[in-house]
Amino acid sequence: MEKREKLYEGKAKIIYATDEPDKVIAYYKDDATAFDAIKKATIKGKGELNNRIASFFFDLLNREGIPTHFIKQLSDREMLIKRVEIIPVEVVVRNLAAGSIVRRLGIPEKTKFEPPLVEFYLKNDELHDPILCEQHIYAMGLATPEEVAKMRELALKVNEILKKFMEEQGITLVDFKLEFGRKDGEIVLADEISPDTCRFWDKKTGESLDKDRFRFDLGDLVEGYRKILEKLEKKQ
Ligand code: TMP
Ligand code: ASP
Repeated sequence: MEKREKLYEGKAKIIYATDEPDKVIAYYKDDATAFDAIKKATIKGKGELNNRIASFFFDLLNREGIPTHFIKQLSDREMLIKRVEIIPVEVVVRNLAAGSIVRRLGIPEKTKFEPPLVEFYLKNDELHDPILCEQHIYAMGLATPEEVAKMRELALKVNEILKKFMEEQGITLVDFKLEFGRKDGEIVLADEISPDTCRFWDKKTGESLDKDRFRFDLGDLVEGYRKILEKLEKKQ
């Protein structure tokens, strides 16, 4: 496997081509952003922690039968993934109210959503990732009704798997964001699953162990992410 040219650089990752056209390398950077990149920092060690945590979660999901882009972890900061066409829709699953839904709708924090909520947002920082209803997705030609149904089904399955798994580690999975891609006509889970894209609360203390530490200056980010990784590594 040979690493070739840079194909794309996002806020937290760089995607490189390889000598195989259907495989690419995701490199996890130390950059952190919040509020559509208004708040920015470089946090030493974040990229490595996220790569290792995301590799663990993707491997778990692959074993549970969820189709993902993940092939294998290559190094501390790199994973080998399938090349997919990313659907520009962010799929958010919420088990408990936190973050934007509290601010936008005035729902009290920690309100339980049973069944969990599935929401769609347009992946567009300039427009501040606005929330979408299904008709918007079809009117904009972002995805078909079949694809939306599949993304919803997979997002809820991912939630069941990760919620149960994290619960066993003493962590509450509050909410998370997923991105999906198209690969040979199939919908596959893509992007990353990490404390950058999930809310994790310590069940006993309520402590945030995710990017809210950076968003709201709640404490050292690396320390929180390391607590998550340590719990996962104990399971191996
Ligand atoms: P929100 O409460 O800000 O809407 O976020 C819901 C979940 O989605 C939370 O776990 C953080 C994650 N998220 C991202 O991964 N990327 C984003 O751009 C946003 C807005 C949220
Ligand atoms: N990832 C987004 C940004 O960079 C938002 C967030 O996660 O808070 O702004």
